Amino acid sequence: MLQGKTIVLGVSGGIAAYKAVDLASRMVKQGARVKVVMTRAACELVRPITFQSITHQPVATEMFSEPANWNIQHIDLATEADLVLVAPATYNVIGKVASGIADDLLTTTISATRAPVLFAPAMNTKMYENPVFQSNLRRLQEMDYYFIEPDIGRLAEGSSGRGRLADNDRIMEEVIRALVPKDLPGTRLLVTAGPTQEFIDPVRILTNPSTGKMGYALAQAALRRGAQVTLITGPTHLTPPWGLKEFVRVATTREMLDAVIKRCLDQDVIIKAAAPMDFRPAETFEMKVKKEEKKELTISLDRNEDILEEVGRKKGDRILVGFAAETENIVANAQDKIKRKYLDFIVANDVLAEGSGFGVDTNVATLVFPDSHENLPSMSKLDLANRILDEVQKLRREIK
Ligand SMILES: Cc1cc2nc3c(=O)[nH]c(=O)nc-3n(C[C@H](O)[C@H](O)[C@H](O)COP(=O)(O)O)c2cc1C
Repeated sequence: MLQGKTIVLGVSGGIAAYKAVDLASRMVKQGARVKVVMTRAACELVRPITFQSITHQPVATEMFSEPANWNIQHIDLATEADLVLVAPATYNVIGKVASGIADDLLTTTISATRAPVLFAPAMNTKMYENPVFQSNLRRLQEMDYYFIEPDIGRLAEGSSGRGRLADNDRIMEEVIRALVPKDLPGTRLLVTAGPTQEFIDPVRILTNPSTGKMGYALAQAALRRGAQVTLITGPTHLTPPWGLKEFVRVATTREMLDAVIKRCLDQDVIIKAAAPMDFRPAETFEMKVKKEEKKELTISLDRNEDILEEVGRKKGDRILVGFAAETENIVANAQDKIKRKYLDFIVANDVLAEGSGFGVDTNVATLVFPDSHENLPSMSKLDLANRILDEVQKLRREIK
């Protein structure tokens, strides 16, 4: 995700400085060139050689160190940065930047850069709540500096409150979002994900093996590209991506249908990546069916409403994308579905193909349009999500 990007990682003197080592490592693994700048206080807490070993780059600590060549270090760092991330950002460093002070390598680099600057503050709760700090924070936000709010939790001194450095997963997500081009800004996009469950009795359900990974990947990718995302999900074990406009959990197909219908008119794009159950038990039992009381149990099933078809009727000029899990005649079946359900295109996957379908992290899909199709190679669900969004974006441009 960060291939070819240069990230200047500013580390200031907070006790969470050790967590920046993991951040540097994650960014390197994602392909970024990471240049670390440490304040003197940070060097008291973690040694520069740790960052140097992980990033395979020299670590900058001193303004007036003997230069390796004629370049001026802070100007070089400021210019080559695609992003400056300060993690942890101390009370002191934020105060200095807000006041226009540039008295060390980190603050001078920040003063000289045109790249986005992202601060991840971490400090004692009383320092964080200090009106001086809060006023500095607001002042910088008004000037388009970005902040990742610290978490509430146990702090180094033993008390609990807001001030813990935000989780590294969250910081990494913010780094990626700051760097991904926003080609779907403000697009209202609804995604459905996961299976649905139909209850036979309070302890037994009919469901399918969908894990929701494809739908969650779509939501994640769309958020990164600037869309306003609503995620409606059946039961999954996944953590919803940060920054959703709305996150709705449902269990049954009817609940999913109601949730989608209620919101579909407010959307520009609807992507149905869920695998709702087509059938539900005709009869459900209020109490657990005791196995001792029945030698055999015959369950007859009723057809559930078809969510795609119901939404298709309300399509208007919205973009509607469906998914199809097929085992044969993939293109012909999908094109028939496109016509019947008023879809723009279908992402069809052969669930019997290796590396495709339920539960796995990759997908082998075919994008099927009304009069054409494109076979895609095996790719991660996140890459497939971006490929789908490329098609959505093309259609959006044609509509405008
Ligand atoms: C052990 C220790 C831990 C500290 N942790 C923090 C912290 O988490 N957040 C913070 O804002 N300051 C913290 N400080 C205070 C800063 O190190 C101090 O304000 C310093 O001047 C910051 O310098 P810098 O912003 O140039 O890195 C800590 C100090 C010590 C001795």
